[in-house]
Amino acid sequence: MNQTQIEQSIRQLAETQNLADEGLLAILSAPLSESEAGFSASFAESQPGFSASFAESRPGSPASFTAPQPGSSAEARRTRISYTPTPLDKALFSAADAVRQSYYGKKVFLRGLIEFSNYCKNDCYYCGIRRSNQGLKRYRLEETDIMECCRTGYSYGLRTFVLQSGEDAHFNQDVRQLSQLVRRIKDTWPDCAVTLSVGELDRERYEMLYEAGADRYLLRHETAAETLYRKWHPDGMSLAYRKQCLYELKEIGYQVGAGFMVGAPEQTAEDLLADLRFLQELQPDMIGIGPFLHHRDTPFRDAPDGSFALTLRCLALLRLLFPYALLPATTALGTIHPLGRELGLSAGANVIMPNISPGSVRGQYLLYDGKICTDEDGQHCHACLEARVRSRGYEIACERGDAVRSPRERAMP
Ligand code: 5AD
Ligand code: FES
Repeated sequence: MNQTQIEQSIRQLAETQNLADEGLLAILSAPLSESEAGFSASFAESQPGFSASFAESRPGSPASFTAPQPGSSAEARRTRISYTPTPLDKALFSAADAVRQSYYGKKVFLRGLIEFSNYCKNDCYYCGIRRSNQGLKRYRLEETDIMECCRTGYSYGLRTFVLQSGEDAHFNQDVRQLSQLVRRIKDTWPDCAVTLSVGELDRERYEMLYEAGADRYLLRHETAAETLYRKWHPDGMSLAYRKQCLYELKEIGYQVGAGFMVGAPEQTAEDLLADLRFLQELQPDMIGIGPFLHHRDTPFRDAPDGSFALTLRCLALLRLLFPYALLPATTALGTIHPLGRELGLSAGANVIMPNISPGSVRGQYLLYDGKICTDEDGQHCHACLEARVRSRGYEIACERGDAVRSPRERAMP
C-alpha cells in the first residue's frame, strides 16, 4: 500500500470504526521512525503548551521527570530512543485525537493505582514479579495502609482507585478480606469507583467482589495469538481461560479492561491484528497496552524492548476502532520514553494512572527494569502528571470517568 492508500484507510477507519485485515496490517507493518540515537523530544517540543509547563522548574513540576538515570543498570540496557512520527503516524494521531475529542473533549481521567501485593503464583516469562524471581522482597499492604493511600488520593481529587496485585493466593483464595476492603472503600467514598486488577479467579469469586461493590476489573489478555501466548507463559496458563474470565467479568456486570503488550518476543503484525480482532469481539470498556520492557531476572532478560513508535501507533488504532474506550497512557510508555505518556495522550489515550502506593514498597513492584516513579511519592507523581497532562492542552477530570458507550452520551456535540 502506498501513502495515499494508507491515508484512505485511515479515513475509512475513522468513519466506520473498522477496516479490513489488509488495511490494518498495512498500518501495523508500515516503517517506523525511531532510532536508538540520543534522545530528542523535537516532536513533543513542537506541540502547543509543551514549553510553557516544562520550562519552569519548581518542586512538583515535571521539569525533573523521572527518566532512568544515566549509569543506572536500566539505563545501561535501555537505549534512549529518538522518535519522530512518520507522515502515516501524524495522520493516524490527528484522526485519533479528533475522535477522542468528539467523545471525551479534552478530558483526561485519573486513576490512583495502589500496588497492594507483589506476591504472585504465576511465572510469566516476561514479568519481574514472577514466582521464580527471588531477587525481590515480597510485601502485602495492610488494609489500613490501603485506606490511607485512598484517603490521600481522594484529597488530590482522585475518584477511581485501582487495586492491583500479583496473583496472591493470600487474597485470592478466600476473597472475603478483599471484599471487605472494597466495601470499606465504597462506604467511605461512595462517589468513587473501585477497579480490581488481581488476575484470574473463578466466577464465584468475581461475583463476590462485584457484590462487595467493585465496579471495574482489569485483566490484560496479553496476546490473543494462541501460539504466542504459550511462548510467553508456562504450561498451566491458558489464553482460553483468560478469555473466559474476561467474558464472565462482563456478564457479571463489571466494566472490563483487557489489553496487550507490544513487542514482546516473536510478536508479528498478524499477532497484533489478532489482538485488535479479539478486542472487537469482547468490546471492553478499557484497553491497556504498553511496550514490552525486559526485566533482568526473567527468562526474557535478553529480549529487545518493544517499539515505542509501534505502541503509539497501536494506541491510535485502538482509539479509532474503539472511540468510547478508556485508554491509559501507561507507566511502561513513560518508562521507554521520557515523554511517552504525553505522546500517548496525543495519539489517543485519555487516562493516566498516578501511582499512589506507599513509597516504601514502590521499588518492589518492578514488572520491568527502569520503571519510573519508584523514588517518588504520591504527591510528586500527582503534581507531575497534572502538569504533563496540561502541557498537552488537556484537562484533568476529577470524576469517576466511566466509559461513554454511545455517541448520544458524548461529552461534546
Ligand atoms: N514489560 C511490559 N509490561 C509488562 N507487564 C508485565 N511485565 C511486563 C514487562 N516486562 C504488563 C502485563 C500485565 C501488566 C500489569 O503489566 O501486560 O498485565
Ligand atoms: Fe512523574 Fe511519577 S514522577 S508521574
